[in-house]
Amino acid sequence: MEKGKQIYEGKAKRIYATGDADVVWVEYKDDATAFNGLKKGTINNKGSLNNRISAVFFEMLESKGIPTHFIKLINDREMLVKHIDIIMVEVVMRNIAAGSLAKRLGLEEGTPLSRPVLEFYYKNDELGDPLINDYHALAINIATREQMDKMAELAFKINEILVDYMDKRDIILVDFKLEFGVFKGEVILGDEISPDTCRFWDKHTKEKLDKDRFRRDLGNVEEAYEEIYKRLTATAN
Ligand code: TMP
Ligand code: ASP
Repeated sequence: MEKGKQIYEGKAKRIYATGDADVVWVEYKDDATAFNGLKKGTINNKGSLNNRISAVFFEMLESKGIPTHFIKLINDREMLVKHIDIIMVEVVMRNIAAGSLAKRLGLEEGTPLSRPVLEFYYKNDELGDPLINDYHALAINIATREQMDKMAELAFKINEILVDYMDKRDIILVDFKLEFGVFKGEVILGDEISPDTCRFWDKHTKEKLDKDRFRRDLGNVEEAYEEIYKRLTATAN
């Protein structure tokens, strides 16, 4: 399969066509942004780490019955994925209060939530991805009732799988963001699952091993991403 012309460039990835209309080629970049692009930088080796970390998560989720866009790794920085029509809703799952939820609800970061919290955001950079609910999504026609329900069902399942999987690696899954798309009529998981899109804390020290190190200038950003890759690949299940 050959790398065709670039069809999209986002903040963290470039997407290229292939000879097959159902398949796109994804290249992960080292560029890092935060606060809707206000903070810009690079994280050495991030593209390679997030590509390989996402591949581990996608393969593991597929093996547990979650449909994803992942096809295969091409090399350290690139993967082939199914060409989905992305649903313009970002799905966030939270197990522990942190980030914008801690701020919005006046909770101390690290406060456990009695049950997982599902949130939807409108994927729109110009608006800074505002928080929305099902009613908004349906009213502005960015998703159907069936798609919203399917995304919620998959997000809760994925959360259960990932919490358990990360716990075995001594990592607390604080929260994470998912994106879904439609492929041949089916809602499947897209985008990436990486320290860019999840909050991972070490179970014992509570050390942050994710993009908050970049957002909050905590240092050792690349080392944190490497630690996640290392823990994912050190244990089999
Ligand atoms: P938040 O607390 O800033 O709302 O972030 C919740 C989770 O979503 C966190 O794991 C980081 C992830 N996230 C993204 O992947 N992309 C984004 O643009 C934002 C704001 C958060
Ligand atoms: N990805 C978002 C941005 O660029 C925000 C974030 O991850 O904090 O700006």
